[in-house]
Amino acid sequence: MCGIVGYWGPEKPKAIILDGLRRLEYRGYDSTGVAIFDHGQLKVERSPGKLHRLEEKLRGIEFEGPTGIGHTRWATHGEPNEKNAHPHKVGGVAIVHNGIIENYGSIQKRLVSEGVELKSETDSELIAHLLDEKLREGATLLKATLEVIPKLEGAYSILVVNEKEPDSMVAFKNGPPMLVGLGNKEVIIASDIQAVITRTPRVVYLDDGEIVTSIKGAVKFYNSKGDEIRKDVHEVKWSQAMAEKAGFDHFMQKEIFEQPQALRQTMEGHLEHEPLRVVLKSSGLTDDEYRNFKRIQLIACGTSWHAAMVAKYVFERVTGIPTDVDIASEFHYRHLTLDPQTLAVTVSQSGETADTLACLRRVKKMGLRTLSVCNVPHSSIDREAHGRIYTNAGAEIGVCSTKSFTAQIVALELLSFHMARLRKSCSDEELKNYISGLLALPGQVEICLNHDKWFREAAQSLTKFRGFLYLGRGVNFPVALEGALKLKEITYLHAEGYPSGELKHGPIALVDNNMIIVALAPKDELYEKNISNIQEVKARGGQIIAIGSGDDQGLEKISKHYLSIPEAVWSANPVLESIPIQLLSYHLAVALNRDVDQPRNLAKSVTVE
Ligand code: BG6
Repeated sequence: MCGIVGYWGPEKPKAIILDGLRRLEYRGYDSTGVAIFDHGQLKVERSPGKLHRLEEKLRGIEFEGPTGIGHTRWATHGEPNEKNAHPHKVGGVAIVHNGIIENYGSIQKRLVSEGVELKSETDSELIAHLLDEKLREGATLLKATLEVIPKLEGAYSILVVNEKEPDSMVAFKNGPPMLVGLGNKEVIIASDIQAVITRTPRVVYLDDGEIVTSIKGAVKFYNSKGDEIRKDVHEVKWSQAMAEKAGFDHFMQKEIFEQPQALRQTMEGHLEHEPLRVVLKSSGLTDDEYRNFKRIQLIACGTSWHAAMVAKYVFERVTGIPTDVDIASEFHYRHLTLDPQTLAVTVSQSGETADTLACLRRVKKMGLRTLSVCNVPHSSIDREAHGRIYTNAGAEIGVCSTKSFTAQIVALELLSFHMARLRKSCSDEELKNYISGLLALPGQVEICLNHDKWFREAAQSLTKFRGFLYLGRGVNFPVALEGALKLKEITYLHAEGYPSGELKHGPIALVDNNMIIVALAPKDELYEKNISNIQEVKARGGQIIAIGSGDDQGLEKISKHYLSIPEAVWSANPVLESIPIQLLSYHLAVALNRDVDQPRNLAKSVTVE
């Protein structure tokens, strides 16, 4: 979704706002723009496309300040072009907006019928017109904002400045995230932490229906009725270094290589060694609750949904609890009643995905206990869930999820092993084996990363194939789905993931010698069945890249390329297989000269339904 940043302070705002937009660009990159004060005037500059085009346009131009706002867009209403770019300025007011105004049609009709000439196709511009009406009636920016908000329906977070109040910024949150960085004699208002951590670790998170005003750096918070409220200030642990590429070509590549550390950090604090066991610390739910849940409902989107699907296999096998997994945008509108003793688990890297957040609110209304598996502390989902387990993978900037995927699998397995111990649904021996499997992962992932060289060299030759089919059985099937998604997301090539046993019921028709088959076939209880499925595609000329355990000569013989992952317990294989499938998509995208970190049409987290 869009990225918003605003600055008030002693320094010239342009550089700080452009730097903030650069760090938020993973949220959307269809157009960018700024509105910055210069000698009492509010100057607006916008540009279609990526931020570098606006930077070129502003080269050599300086703005006095002290206040400025900026925006990077992921288009919803209106094409990605300059006239639909933000900020939208009407009269003396300029706004940047993240979200969707659902009653856009009726507001537009009213304004046009009163002779207002609209300059863009956006819903956002309408907000500026409504504010301008109030300001012309003499309202202050805060008062105008308080009067306009009740007229708007939908999800919208806005940041506003007014030419007559050069030292003021007003922001409002309803849905998409908004936070305030309290710096040294400066204030930064932004959509997410990335745009703030370079300036200050002291942050206040707005909740829905809340307003912040910054007037000459004095910051106040209000509810939507205009009553002043108190807010907690949080110290953020993420460092600026986390938001840099550290010598890698792309954030995605850096984040692939950060996985050993990300997995260690995710396990940290949840494992006891004497005896070896998982003890979930401060998850917010009690051990008695974990003992008594009768069902588990997992809810997520995109890559997080694939991690949740891996967890389904693990939960059912080690805890014996029936487990459902749903895509959030579908679950939200299903007509269903759930057993009150269902644990609802949302899985989200950003903690801001609107579909998943809406489902969390729905199951809470149903009276269910909820647990968030999330990578961003203090995000909306984290704040609203009853309990939480963090995937301590660190900031993930690449639009394609990599380290958060494997960290999510580990976090969900920690949860399942904790519940299995409490429910005695698994022998201590078995649990020890699973937990040893987790502990071995960081080192084993290091070994899998050695395949980087092979994929770098093979990439060019693989780009000529017409399509890619990823196969896996059981707990490996969701990783096949993830492999296909990764490839689609950044190479724009066609790919599908399938349960190996399902291929013969249709998609095998796609197989010929122009089709790459990525076969996930580690040694586990379904190995033999999987091998016979792989034989079926080999018989049709499919070009097989097989990923197997250790030195599997049988599999090597039937495949065009064989890549081994360390021998491991079945529950660890999904993490190990993820590395070669991530490297495959990364190197193919580089070979095809794609924009790896900001693939077309995508955004890091989508904060509208
Ligand atoms: C998409 C991202 O917008 O949202 C995916 O491009 C991600 O990478 C999906 O998996 C879900 O996001 P989250 O933050 O809820 O895990």
